[in-house]
Amino acid sequence: MPLLAVQGLRKSFGDTRAVDGVDFSIEAQRLISLVGSNGAGKTTLVNLITGLL
Ligand SMILES: Nc1ncnc2c1ncn2[C@@H]1O[C@H](COP(=O)(O)OP(=O)(O)OP(=O)(O)O)[C@@H](O)[C@H]1O
Ligand SMILES: [Mg+2]
Repeated sequence: MPLLAVQGLRKSFGDTRAVDGVDFSIEAQRLISLVGSNGAGKTTLVNLITGLL
């Protein structure tokens, strides 16, 4: 069973689709990286998961 599971995560700021249908799951004791170019939506993704957004 995953420690964290995300399915169909979305967030738009006006016409900007910052996060557009993200699915992933993380197993316990795994180290993962979130990689992407400037404006790819990394911070928005994390803010959605933590509840900041
Ligand atoms: N509060 C906000 N209001 C409007 N647009 C936003 C807001 N936050 C993020 N965006 C837009 O959403 C998109 C994703 O931004 P985000 O900051 O999540 O990307 P990032 O991958 O963290 O970028 P960086 O590598 O520069 O930190 C960008 O187009 C950004 O301009
Ligand atoms: Mg960022």
